[in-house]
Amino acid sequence: MEQSPYSEKVMDHFLHPRNVGEIADANGIGNVGNPVCGDVMRMYLKIENDIITDAKFKTFGCGAAISTSSMVTEMVKGKSIKEALGISNKAVAQALGGLPAIKMHCSVLAEQALKSAIKDYYKRQGKDIDFDDVDKRRDP
Ligand code: FES
Repeated sequence: MEQSPYSEKVMDHFLHPRNVGEIADANGIGNVGNPVCGDVMRMYLKIENDIITDAKFKTFGCGAAISTSSMVTEMVKGKSIKEALGISNKAVAQALGGLPAIKMHCSVLAEQALKSAIKDYYKRQGKDIDFDDVDKRRDP
């Protein structure tokens, strides 16, 4: 039988995604889309005293997009905003046991959705935060 290009963890999060849905009283909502494949993702965060207490997502995306969003929502719960901003798409892919190279861009969508939601959280408080510095600190 041909071996799947996806790890067991990717398949598990694809078949049983965690944290799918909306948070009614979310105070950070991110919307992102990939113009190439057309997939879109929305992430909801509940942030209290700088800590992400809840995270959910909805996506109209591929299997890798579902798996990476599921994983990133698991990873950010209980983390401070600063810690969450340090989570790269590579870290998400790694936590899933890797992704095929052609699917790495799907993990970027998950990272961007998280950042977009945190940006929205700051915006609601009248702060316009630029995450460029964070991006530059990451490995290329
Ligand atoms: Fe579009 Fe995966 S193919 S996010």
